[in-house]
Amino acid sequence: MKTKDRSESFHVLLWRTYLIQPCWLVAKSLLEHFREAHRVMKESYYSKIERQIDSFPSLPTTVAEVMRVVNNPESSAKELTQAILPDQSMCVAILKIANSALYGRPKKVSSIETAIMVLGFNEIQNIVLSKSVLSSFAEKLHRDDDIIDTFWEHSFTCALAAKVIAEHLNLQPPGEYFIGGLIHDIGKLAMLLTLSDEYAVETWLTGFSTTEKLKKERELFGITHQEVAGKLLRKWSFPDKLTFGLEYHHNPEELTENQDFALILQVADAMSFLLCQHSREEERDQIEENFSISQQLQELLPGIVEKWKRYKLPWDELPVEMWYNWLEIEKKHGSSILSILSAQ
Ligand SMILES: [Fe+2]
Ligand SMILES: [Fe+2]
Repeated sequence: MKTKDRSESFHVLLWRTYLIQPCWLVAKSLLEHFREAHRVMKESYYSKIERQIDSFPSLPTTVAEVMRVVNNPESSAKELTQAILPDQSMCVAILKIANSALYGRPKKVSSIETAIMVLGFNEIQNIVLSKSVLSSFAEKLHRDDDIIDTFWEHSFTCALAAKVIAEHLNLQPPGEYFIGGLIHDIGKLAMLLTLSDEYAVETWLTGFSTTEKLKKERELFGITHQEVAGKLLRKWSFPDKLTFGLEYHHNPEELTENQDFALILQVADAMSFLLCQHSREEERDQIEENFSISQQLQELLPGIVEKWKRYKLPWDELPVEMWYNWLEIEKKHGSSILSILSAQ
């Protein structure tokens, strides 16, 4: 019996030493190899993205000039006019937008001077910044497909939603919220430009960015689209509020100031996702019958009501429903704005 036991334990030892252990070692070394390869790939994606951002051309001189004039409290409307006039396509865009249904002016705006008087310095700066960013990407992407259209539809709807909420909460200037919403996801476009083969547009360019999706994005590329946007806006010397708002639009609670700006972008993003999804007929009835807009937003953004209350922003069923209805109307009225801003 003892001999049998001994021979059994010998077999177990043999099995462990020559079969299991080598298999385990091979598996371990494969895993280490895989981890190392993944780390190298992530680092190379990250540095490629950084290089892409560095190589982005500066925005046109009009932008720098307009920002300089607007940020100087001593500036006059005449100086702002002089900063814009050399850029003919910018003048056309400003006049078209000033006369669009989005602003609903009763009288026709026919000169840049009047547009400045009617819209104000900040609104003009927002139009100039929006147009420069959109034209710059349109020029670089050379893509005209459905997925890019879907991306811009989401961004534009988010811009309108942010503006609607800011106007209702009396946050100034609403145009700043509009541009924040319009360019909130440009980091995704910069990633697409850099990693055109690796960046699967169906996965990354559209759809709602849940916490899990953001985690995956960082795991895969070493950086998230919101951080890429922050880097890009810093390179272009955009105002801090806008830069930080974009950089934290999925985690506004991590900001130390201007949290309300990022919080509104976060909700506008979710609201835009709902509206664009609801416009697809087959999904609309099914979702709308059972849940209110406020409930659907809370489903997408767990804990959002508590977060809003922490930063002294109001959240009630009725206004949220109202924002959504206004958004639907504004979207119908403002459909031409996107093509005006992205025209080269
Ligand atoms: Fe995003
Ligand atoms: Fe988004």
